[in-house]
Amino acid sequence: MTVQATALIEQLTALRERALQELAGVHDAAALEQWRVEYLGRRGRLAELMRSLGQLLPEERPQAGRVANEVKEALEQAHAAKTRELERRALQEALERERIDVTLPGRRPPLGQVHPVTRTLREIVQAFQLMGFQVVEGPEVEWDYYNFEALNIPPDHPARDMWDTFYITDPHDRAAHGPRGPMLLRTHTSPMQIRVMEQTRPPVRVIVPGRVYRYEATDATHESEFYQVEGLAVDRHITMADLKGVLTEFARLLFGAERRVRFYCSYFPFVEPGVEVAIDCYQCRGAGCRLCSHTGWLEILGAGMVHPNVLAAVNYDPQEYTGFAFGMGVERIAMLKYGVDDIRLFYANDLRFLRQFR
Ligand code: FA5
Repeated sequence: MTVQATALIEQLTALRERALQELAGVHDAAALEQWRVEYLGRRGRLAELMRSLGQLLPEERPQAGRVANEVKEALEQAHAAKTRELERRALQEALERERIDVTLPGRRPPLGQVHPVTRTLREIVQAFQLMGFQVVEGPEVEWDYYNFEALNIPPDHPARDMWDTFYITDPHDRAAHGPRGPMLLRTHTSPMQIRVMEQTRPPVRVIVPGRVYRYEATDATHESEFYQVEGLAVDRHITMADLKGVLTEFARLLFGAERRVRFYCSYFPFVEPGVEVAIDCYQCRGAGCRLCSHTGWLEILGAGMVHPNVLAAVNYDPQEYTGFAFGMGVERIAMLKYGVDDIRLFYANDLRFLRQFR
């Protein structure tokens, strides 16, 4: 064998040694690629040696060529093995890094809660449902006829001042009136008394939860938009005793079985007689405190026996039928229930306030 051939075979063997040694020190994909280009690339070291095969004597080429191929194969295998090793390691590291600890407690999703006014509204409705009242709802945009006139409050009646009104159409412009007078935002839920009686015959036993609107300045006890619950019961032989029984039961369901209830005269044009209902102050038990303005009593609603004129307006015979009606402010009841001293807090959307009602 010529010196040339021997030298080439030695170079090839040395190249393998060196390449494999270097490969052992490769620890990432970039270095591996660099290694591949250097040794196995088209212009790499092995290619260079293989090109010099052509300069050997023809009879020496097969032997040197075999060695060159063995070296090439060895390097390719080593490269493939290293590639797999690096991939395995990368996967291992990713698994370590992204490991999920399934034993950790879950993240609690923020949980909302029912607004105190809604909660109170539901309690009120439930109390009357227990006593056999049916729930109905009605329009917030209402005709003057239902809000006032059919409730025994004719135009220019001074009682209209009690309910300062947001008008939708100009009340002084007759041409703008609808078939039932001007259109307005209902100032109370009482118009539903008329709508219900227009559509049904006695016996009637309904409650009407809903939003009402008044053109008034807001202060600690007044909003211009608030909730009421109306109640109406009409049948033969209904008396003031029924009114007192139902409303006493209601007050006790909402404010505690030991509550004392007081009825005293009041005026609403659509009832006769009219009453206001108060409970003994549950905070001072009647002794007098800030909550009850030192009177010992908390007013909770207005009520009365349905006025014969109202029954007549819906073609109920006042000689045959009698009934009672009542109306209460839901926010005011919530204030009493929870000891809130400013009604505006309910609608300020301050979570520090609202979170207290869990
Ligand atoms: C009425 O609205 C009558 N319709 C109630 C009624 C019905 C009497 C049936 C007889 C028979 P009054 O204007 O007093 O009445 O309002 C009823 C309740 O609504 C009040 O007791 C009070 O709790 C609440 N309320 C009145 N004005 C406001 C206001 N500006 N902000 C919050 N609550 C109010």
